[in-house]
Amino acid sequence: MTQQLTPPPISERAIKRVYIETFGCQMNKADSEHMLGLLDEIGYCQTAELKSADLMILNTCAIREGAEDKVYSYLGHWKRVKAANPGSLIAVGGCVAQDAGETLTQRDRGVDIVFGTHNLHRLPELVLQAQRTGRPVVEIFQELPEELPELPVIRQNSTSAWVNVIYGCDYNCTYCIVPYVRGREKSREAQVIMKEVHELEQSGYKEITFLGQNVTAYGHDLNPAVHLGNLLELAGDVVGIKRLRFMTGHPRDLQDAIIDAVARTEIACEHFHIPIQAGNDRTLRRMARGYNVDYYRKVVERIRKRIPDASITSDLIVGFPGETQDEFMQTVSLVEEIGFDMCVTAAYSPRNHTPASNWEHQVTEEEKYERLRFLNSVVAEVSHRFNKKYLGKKVEVLVEGKSERNPERISGRTRTNKIVNFEGGEELIGQLVDVYVQTANPWALRGTMAGDHLVVQDSQHAYPGANEGS
Ligand code: SAH
Ligand code: SF4
Ligand code: F3S
Repeated sequence: MTQQLTPPPISERAIKRVYIETFGCQMNKADSEHMLGLLDEIGYCQTAELKSADLMILNTCAIREGAEDKVYSYLGHWKRVKAANPGSLIAVGGCVAQDAGETLTQRDRGVDIVFGTHNLHRLPELVLQAQRTGRPVVEIFQELPEELPELPVIRQNSTSAWVNVIYGCDYNCTYCIVPYVRGREKSREAQVIMKEVHELEQSGYKEITFLGQNVTAYGHDLNPAVHLGNLLELAGDVVGIKRLRFMTGHPRDLQDAIIDAVARTEIACEHFHIPIQAGNDRTLRRMARGYNVDYYRKVVERIRKRIPDASITSDLIVGFPGETQDEFMQTVSLVEEIGFDMCVTAAYSPRNHTPASNWEHQVTEEEKYERLRFLNSVVAEVSHRFNKKYLGKKVEVLVEGKSERNPERISGRTRTNKIVNFEGGEELIGQLVDVYVQTANPWALRGTMAGDHLVVQDSQHAYPGANEGS
């Protein structure tokens, strides 16, 4: 007769499992990779299966109400998963946690650990404390430690790596919660960044993206001050790295020295994500963006003069309080005029701690979504027009993985950040390959590695307002 074995209680298993769910921007995704690195040091390995996790982490985003609502609906579900797996813990980090703090442990939500955006390095200690005491642990720091801790990391991609270069944001756009939840700008020292770049090269990474909420402000707070261009040039000499990118830029801080460095540095990709937010001066002023439309036009001119093939992408907000229909239409015209390669669009969402949320003349939800739908159709049309320029051309693609839609295909990006799907084997992941573009839609290109008998097709699109922001 076989003896029935009871598994040891979770607390005595040698290896514990952590499941992590990440919302929001690349900064949050990079933070999650650091959380996994930190937890690895106390014996946690990652699992893709929520119900087998000893620790479930929700890394949250507060940029819009929709993102915040998602946190509470996930927690409702996770509480039930936890009930079926006694001894497991729920941790909430990121921007909602930074703002909400201990209120997350109230109302019987089942949350055991709350930590913010400034104390990731404390996560192992907080987890151990929650295990030891069986009581909720909440720790939020108001700012980053004076000396930035260097954090271990477990990356989720083996080709392309994120490297934080500056944290926080010193702007105070009247709609935005980021300065409140991420604090003031703080740059990492260039030598520390370069050490990480060299380690990435050694580990076989091909692409590096320098990250910051306002990456173009990099280095102004260091002594001596440096700028992003200096960093691009330093990293540009690291032989094994084939591509350098940076996100997200602010039009005000995109000095010529940065554009010149992109032009001069062979591996720096010619893609600039520089959100304008709105195409009307009165709105930009009320948003406190610190520039007007004409200033932005000149930034684009400076880029195109120096790097004619550069792709330029933007974020746009519709329905900012008091935005009139005419003002909105100026944003629409600007998309046509500038010719953005792609735009991330969103309906304005009132956020706590931001001035605009209390202003009169809030635009109705209905009106905002009407504007969003219309803008999205124009954005898609313009992107499609731009993407069609690639038809029949040969592009260099860094292969990043299997295509999400079709497992027969693999997927990567051009230097200009266009997604390209094509048939090929997994052995090409991490390689730079030449692909001939056969079809173009507003969001991606499709191609083939065999260029000899190229058949190019033009796809028809009705631009049905896809790509809607959350
Ligand atoms: N620092 C970057 C943007 C970071 S936030 C910049 O200034 O350009 C990412 C994007 O979220 C913003 O570009 C903006 O388009 C959007 N966003 C921020 N706050 C928002 C709000 N309250 N409602 C809707 N969209 C918002
Ligand atoms: Fe938010 Fe403005 Fe800072 Fe961008 S620059 S993160 S929109 S406050
Ligand atoms: Fe969201 Fe925080 Fe990023 S609010 S967009 S996760 S900085």
